[in-house]
Amino acid sequence: MNETVQKAVDLIREKTTITPKVAVTLGSGLGGLADNIDADAVISYEDIPGFPASTVPGHDGKFVIGHLGDVPVIAMKGRFHYYEGYPMWKVVLPTRVISALGVETFVVSNAAGGVNTSFSPGDLMVIADHINQMGDHPLIGPNNDEIGPRFPDMSSAYDEALIDIAEQEAKAMELSLQRGVYAATTGPTYETPAEVRMFRTLGADAVGMSTVPEVIAARHAGSRVLGISCISNAAAGILDQPLSHEEVIETTEKVTANFMELVTRIITRVGKG
Ligand code: 6GU
Repeated sequence: MNETVQKAVDLIREKTTITPKVAVTLGSGLGGLADNIDADAVISYEDIPGFPASTVPGHDGKFVIGHLGDVPVIAMKGRFHYYEGYPMWKVVLPTRVISALGVETFVVSNAAGGVNTSFSPGDLMVIADHINQMGDHPLIGPNNDEIGPRFPDMSSAYDEALIDIAEQEAKAMELSLQRGVYAATTGPTYETPAEVRMFRTLGADAVGMSTVPEVIAARHAGSRVLGISCISNAAAGILDQPLSHEEVIETTEKVTANFMELVTRIITRVGKG
């Protein structure tokens, strides 16, 4: 195991004896889920050797390890974004650490702009596939064969059985759940209207600035992944109005209760399986 990963794993194991079964990355709108975890350990990223401190306002930076209902979980409250200037290997460092703890199911969430014109702000979308438009890749460099293959298959990056569970639980909540392709850009600008048209032509339904590196790293390690986006706004050029981070936060806050319930139900189901 990579030395940085090993040190982080050692520190986490010192703080808790819980072996998490599911990891959940709490993107914008889902941060409150951390408060529903019966926490055994809360570890700030900055206290973990090798970890940088997160810089985006409204994004915390810590692992919360404990139980969500009966399910032992590790939550990432806050993530490292490429646009903050971290190299890809640092963006996926928490994912690597979580995998090294033995977790094999990742639930990742984010806020994203709606590229599909039939989407409305506040919609939730289960990610069926992704397009990596970041111009970088977390697996560039020497491959660690202990983690996974040099050329990992990505033909089912998002687990069909987990998508089924998400769709069933949304139905039980009478919550409409979109399904679509998530395209990742580096940010930090939002797209131009021409770029949004490009993404639509390429088959994207939503666009954001995260998640894809973590999903690649998790799949490299053979984990299964479920992704859910909160469509916080229409991407540029759809509505005649500028985009703002405030709007993104405002919309995610409105849907946070549904988002949290859906993800909690999914994790409960996964924990039973
Ligand atoms: Cl419109 N674009 C990107 N890249 N990320 C977003 C977004 C848009 N809305 C929320 N996050």
